[in-house]
Formats: sequence, structure tokens, C-alpha cells
Amino acid sequence: MSKNNQVIIFDTTLRDGEQSPGASMTRDEKLRIAKQLEKMRVDVIEAGFAIASPGDFESVKAIAEAVTESTVCSLSRALDADIDRAGEALKNAASGRIHTFIATSPIHMKYKLQMEPDQVVEQAVYAVKRAHNLISDVEFSLEDASRSDLDFMCRIIEKVIDAGARTINIPDTVGYAIPEEFGYTIGQLLQRIPNADKAIFSVHCHNDLGLAVANSLAAVTAGARQVECTINGLGERAGNASLEEIVMAIRTRKDRLNLETGIDTTQIVPASRLVSSVTGFPVQPNKAIVGANAFAHESGIHQDGVLKHRETYEIMTAQDVGWNTNRMVMGKHSGRNAFRSRLVELGTTFKSDLELNNAFARFKELADKKHEIFDEDLIALVSDTQAADAYEKYKLSSLNVTSQTGEVPVAQVSLVVDGNEHKAQSEGGGPVDAALKAIEKIVNSESSLELYSVNAITSGTDSQGEVTVRLEKAGRIVNGVGADTDIIIASAKAYVHALNLMDANIQKAHPQV
Ligand code: KIV
Ligand code: ZN
Repeated sequence: MSKNNQVIIFDTTLRDGEQSPGASMTRDEKLRIAKQLEKMRVDVIEAGFAIASPGDFESVKAIAEAVTESTVCSLSRALDADIDRAGEALKNAASGRIHTFIATSPIHMKYKLQMEPDQVVEQAVYAVKRAHNLISDVEFSLEDASRSDLDFMCRIIEKVIDAGARTINIPDTVGYAIPEEFGYTIGQLLQRIPNADKAIFSVHCHNDLGLAVANSLAAVTAGARQVECTINGLGERAGNASLEEIVMAIRTRKDRLNLETGIDTTQIVPASRLVSSVTGFPVQPNKAIVGANAFAHESGIHQDGVLKHRETYEIMTAQDVGWNTNRMVMGKHSGRNAFRSRLVELGTTFKSDLELNNAFARFKELADKKHEIFDEDLIALVSDTQAADAYEKYKLSSLNVTSQTGEVPVAQVSLVVDGNEHKAQSEGGGPVDAALKAIEKIVNSESSLELYSVNAITSGTDSQGEVTVRLEKAGRIVNGVGADTDIIIASAKAYVHALNLMDANIQKAHPQV
């Protein structure tokens, strides 16, 4: 197959994915996800928006230094300071890319940028040249391209290619496009722009109408050769095109599309689980490819068919995408070295022996309660340990809950706040409610609970429950996550995690505002 049939997979989970309200990730969490994306052989990892905050800069820098097999990219507006900050964060990358953008639709130029079209062209060319002076690999995006004028897009793209852009990204920023129209636009751009052969055309589709994957596939059919997407379709508002759906559609319908990607598809489910566990965004059971029911056959007729001949009802196998790798990896007698090696394979690095020892001590506690420890347990355990080890305002010290038929549940909680122990007791509608109310009696956070969800991490009644708690305060949303074999303790951990995230009050610039 000629190189022209290769679709570049550009993952933006760590940038656009993080723009989902409540999906912020720490530097270490981003590093773990980046290592998993590299293992999955993603071509380009958009590691963040370097100028957004010091934390974002550090994350992009750390990923640029740790990842060698994928290109690492930072977003930047078409502004000097943004471009320079991106270049600085990427300076040690084995392969780095600056992704600069400016809006090109009449509505964005008039109301958001308050610039004339000619000024936008000038600024775009200037930004690409500045980025190109820092790094050879420059991508340029026309924000809100799907509502931009075709002739204007042709004009600006020709100029930015001349200025050094090697990837031209056509975003459907507001998820407005429909497949036939979007494919037509890509085809027109490729035909009309005289120097179009000097760049790879890319697409970046949002899912507001549930069409992000369909639009991306229409675009590659029309000649685009890079797709920007995210694990589990995470992203601003309704999310981005989901990586797993794009990759598996290209692979499963090769007969029709005649395209391929370099992705190791067996790493898809582990990546999906990792992103879900880190962000606290559960994956819906019927989500294509990575949902718990994606390969489950309920009806007798289907089961019978699959048993007789798998292809009667299955177009791909669960193993192809990394399901059923769900093997017991460790147990009570596993040693510290085996523990560390498995976690390194899962993309975790320990900053110190102390961090490893703390995680190992937690693993031993878990192994006492649960005979079989799976990769998913280890991932949750590391997230939990990192949260507990980080300096944080609130730490859960102990929790005691009584609950029995006919009695009102009561919780007693002990919480360390800024180093001082506080105790409170509360009744509740159920044991979880009592525990969270007792915590609130101490912290009085004034935030409102927007979401509470529990997921079993693995199968079996001894599974760890992973709880997500979403809190909102003055327009700010955070997702706390906690895991434990006792779901009341998991709930309290998740609540305390959310309170700490709220307390951290990290201010970030939003690239599109
Ligand atoms: O949706 C969008 O337009 C973006 C750009 C910054 C690429 O995320
Ligand atoms: Zn976007």
C-alpha cells in the first residue's frame, strides 16, 4: 500500500480532551496517558497548550522529554508569546510540532477577533513563519473552518503553506458540518489550492450533532490524511471524534476505504480505561469499541450465531481492540519488583523509592482484600496513591459508617485539614450520603454535587468500586475520583479529591476564548 494511503492519527486527548469541563489532569497523569498513546503508536500527541498555565507548560515539556516514538505537539494561538512558549516547551523533543491557529469564519473574525479578513491572513502568515523559525514541523488550523468561506480558506491556506506550514487542519469547531458537505469542502481545497501537495490536510471534528466520526471519515475519503481525535471521544462540549471509532472503522472497512493507520489496536481498551480512570469520565456501556457491552451478545439468536460462526454477528474481535487481556496479573505474593515492572509497562514511573514503597504498601492492602489483581486495579491504585501523596489541603483520615435495616445510617469522619485533624458525625439517606454530609460539616465547601457515579473496575463482588464525584462552585467544575473495595470509602475519597481540586483553583487560559 502506498504511503499516500496512511492516515496520520493525531491524538488531542491531553489538549482538547482536557477542555471538557472537569477533565483536568495533573502532569503525572498526562505523562502516563502520553506513554500509553506512544505505546499505541499514535503518530502525533497534542500534549497541551503550553501558555495556558505553568502546569500546562511543565506537562508539555515533560511529555516532550519522555516520548520518543511519537511527535509531541503544543497548541498556540497565532500570537508571539504563545508560539515562543510552545517552542520552549518542545525544545527537547525528539520530534516536536507547533500547532498554531486563528479563526477564519466571518462570525469569529467579526465578533471574536474583531479583525478584517486581510489582517487575519497577515497574522496567520506571520505566526507560521515565527513558529517555523523555532521548529520545522508546523501545523496551521483555520478555527471554525466549517463555517468559513471556501475562497477565503483557499487564499489563507496557500499563503501559510508558502510560509512553512506542513499540516493544514480544517476543524469543524462547533460540530456543524454534515459528512457529504464536509467531504466536498476537503476535496475542493485539495483541488483548488495550487500548493496543496506541499502539505498534509487534516481534520478535527467536534461531535455536537453526533457526526464527528462520520465527518472525519468523509474527509479522509476526500483526501485528508490526518485525523485529530481523542480517546473515548473526550473533548470540549459533546467531545471530539473518537480515536477508537476512527481507527477501527478504517481497519474494519479497508475493503471500502483502502486506508490504514499505524495504530496498535490492542492498546485501545487499556488507553480507554486509563483515560476514564484519570478523568473520572465513565465510558457508557454501549459505547462503540470500548463500552462494556460492545462485544456482549445478549440475545439467544445472536449467541447461537456467534458460537456457530463468529462473523455472523461480529465485524471485529474483542481481542483486536485489547479486551480479554483482562488477566490476573498479580496477587498477594507478588513482590515489589514484579509490581514495579508491571506498572512501568503500564506507563507509570516512580519519582522516588518512597513513592514506590507507598504504592506497594497500598497494593499489599488491596491484595489482602482481593485475591486477583488486574491491570485496571493497578491503574486505579496508582491514581489513588498519587492523590494521597500530593500535598493537599484535605486528607481523609478515617471513616466509620453504620448502616442496618430499619435504622438511619450514621457516619463519623475524621479529616485532616491543613495538617489539623477535624471530626464530624452525620446521618444520611444512605451510608454514602451520611459520609459525604459528615465531610461537608467539616469543610462547608458551598459547592453543589452535580454527579455521583460508581463503576466496578473489574468483575466480581470483590471488585474495587471507582467513584466519580462532580462538584460545581461559581461556574467551576471538578471531577474527583476514588477507588476502593468498599464503595463508601471510595465515595469519601472521591469527594475529598474533588474538594482538593476545587481548592487548587488552577487558572488556565482557554485557547479559544
Ligand atoms: O475545535 C477547534 O477548532 C480546535 C482548534 C484549536 C484546532 O480545537
Ligand atoms: Zn477542538
